[in-house]
Amino acid sequence: MSAGVRTAEISACFTANSVCHQRLAMIEAILSRLEQRLGGRFYARQRLGIETDHEAQIFGQGLTFFHIENWYSVHSVIRGLLKLSGLYWRGRANAARVQVRINDVHLKRLPPAFHGFTLLHISDLHADMNEGAMQRLEEILPGLSYDLCVLTGDYRGATFGPFEAATARMRPVLARIKQPVYGVLGNHDTIRMVPDLEDMGIRMLLNECELVTRASASIYLAGIDDAHYFRVDNIEKAASAIPHGAFSILLSHTPEIYRQAAHAGFDLLLGGHTHGGQVCLPGSIPLTLESNLPRHLGAGAWKYHAMAGYTSVGVGSSIVAVRINCLPEITLHRLWCEGLPQ
Ligand SMILES: [Fe+2]
Repeated sequence: MSAGVRTAEISACFTANSVCHQRLAMIEAILSRLEQRLGGRFYARQRLGIETDHEAQIFGQGLTFFHIENWYSVHSVIRGLLKLSGLYWRGRANAARVQVRINDVHLKRLPPAFHGFTLLHISDLHADMNEGAMQRLEEILPGLSYDLCVLTGDYRGATFGPFEAATARMRPVLARIKQPVYGVLGNHDTIRMVPDLEDMGIRMLLNECELVTRASASIYLAGIDDAHYFRVDNIEKAASAIPHGAFSILLSHTPEIYRQAAHAGFDLLLGGHTHGGQVCLPGSIPLTLESNLPRHLGAGAWKYHAMAGYTSVGVGSSIVAVRINCLPEITLHRLWCEGLPQ
């Protein structure tokens, strides 16, 4: 660990010395584990360093300075305004009404062996602050049929602080999901969660790529770290093992990297982050997507050049656990070869 990260960690530790030592030991253990996986500490150290800076300054920093999800005093103001407008309790009930959406995607380069291959896509759980949605998800999951599950980040409610409540609430949810499960980190997540997430059976893609095989054919599934706030995404590294012309899917918490993904040659981009606006005007018109993104890429299926994309509005809600005109979802993406009957 670099001197900078260690010093920042120590200064962030306001509790007893023994707790501080425990935390440093835990960070060392996580870095060693990630080092073995990733072949070096550079990326993990960078991610952890930015997280430490962020925890010391919740207004955030980076290229986009202000992020509403980090401004915690605004939460009670929003909650109060919703209560005054009479929308709060309806919004609370909506936040637990998780829908199952079907997205049929017709793809030119999909190997015929994958015709009908189905991915279950779950995004933005914010598991520790959405008990109603987690319970509904647990009811829905056993009845679904799919080949593979992908999680596109934001497992924790807050953007800083303890993560154990989020991973603890995810564990019974994950027990109801069929393997294999792949995931990426979001802007609400800490890299310190990775060992817990992997211990519960999620193969985390930290700017990495995996081969998925069916019959004698293969496709590539890549995943990048958060490109919205932490900006430690590395598409070039994630795509480095993908042969030119091979069919590939990219998981990214935010769809904001749609241009980089399309021009890197990915066939499909799956993301979340926007919550579809979460609190919308009638007609699901978002007040904000909290993203640098064209509005039509903010929710549901879209296309950019030859790349198909999908932005999940997510399962959980953040800032305040309400949804207005934007119900939560999980998605079944059914992949079809272009030109072949379904
Ligand atoms: Fe989120």
